[in-house]
Amino acid sequence: MEIGVFIPIGSNGWLISTTSPQYKPSFELNKQTTLNAERYGLDFVLSMIKLRGFGGKSEFWDHNLDSFTLMAGLAAVTSRIRLYATVPTLAVPPAIAARMCSTIDSISNGRFGLNVITGWQRPEYSQMGLWPGDEYFAHRYRYAAEYVQILRDLWTTGTSDLKGEFFTMNDCRLSPRPQADMKVICAGQSDAGLEFTAKYADYNFCFAKGINTPLACADTVARMQSYADQTGRKVASYALTMVITGETDAEAEAKWELYKEGADLEALAWLVEQASADKNPTGDSNVRHAIDPRSMVNINIGLMLGSYAKVANLLDEMATIPGLAGALLTFDEFVTGTQVFGERIQPLMKSRRHVNSPAMAAE
Ligand SMILES: Cc1cc2nc3c(=O)[nH]c(=O)nc-3n(C[C@H](O)[C@H](O)[C@H](O)COP(=O)(O)O)c2cc1C
Repeated sequence: MEIGVFIPIGSNGWLISTTSPQYKPSFELNKQTTLNAERYGLDFVLSMIKLRGFGGKSEFWDHNLDSFTLMAGLAAVTSRIRLYATVPTLAVPPAIAARMCSTIDSISNGRFGLNVITGWQRPEYSQMGLWPGDEYFAHRYRYAAEYVQILRDLWTTGTSDLKGEFFTMNDCRLSPRPQADMKVICAGQSDAGLEFTAKYADYNFCFAKGINTPLACADTVARMQSYADQTGRKVASYALTMVITGETDAEAEAKWELYKEGADLEALAWLVEQASADKNPTGDSNVRHAIDPRSMVNINIGLMLGSYAKVANLLDEMATIPGLAGALLTFDEFVTGTQVFGERIQPLMKSRRHVNSPAMAAE
């Protein structure tokens, strides 16, 4: 199983709490996290794009770096690990995104790929006059389809002349083209999102679900695979999960209890309100069905909670899901989290026996 890290580009990572580690994003924090990931033989890092936070006492995600420029910096200081940035398709024209990808492909020597998002939080875009109206909720993956067609045309042929419903390209040019086959991620979970992924993307990232229930996302992976069967394309799935760990189960559980006690209800209320704005019956927001503030304190992404051995076992169990190629990890604290993962958890994992990082070999 591959392992990636969803690096902390936004303040406080993925815990909407006043009692979890409080921090603002910086290049240094993301560099240390990424260098740890590379040192311990992890496969990739991904950064999201978030243009407006949720507020509250914890100022959750009110502080966010830009994904492309962060990954460009990380590309220059790493040598092996794969890097993925996220493009906000409503805010960056596809020809500019294609060129930024070519640039980071050059900096990274072919280690770069792109997460394409449609956006689900209206104020991120309405604050700059870029929200096309609420009808966008219903057709956002049609828009993304044209967007990715343009990217692929530019990357593979160097030109795009697409005349679509949303974009008009007039002998648009790109050179240099990326040296590597540029991989596209889509993290959609709705039927429209999965259908889009099956047609246009290489990887689907889904939410793991529940606490210590690593097989609970098998249904999303199976849905993805059945859409991919229909297009005959190969799409690998990855599950996003948080790790909270310690020497013992009790130590890890105590941290989780502490974070839940500090749940930032104001920021959580904003999240629920924004996620409920998509009234489209076929849409499926990542949080729509989860309005319990205690379970939502980590945005309701799945959680692997317990001792190092327990987390290793849980991830090995997750690796058995048919069609699942890897896990994307978040931590309550990223620099120690990636280090503890590399030194204490990964060596116990059967699904990571193939890893032979210099740091592990030296032990
Ligand atoms: C790993 C992962 C990364 C994501 N990255 C972003 C992001 O950077 N920005 C964003 O607005 N949404 C992001 N999302 C949300 C998805 O793009 C998607 O909108 C969401 O999962 C709901 O699915 P749907 O669009 O099919 O309704 C991410 C989701 C996952 C699981």
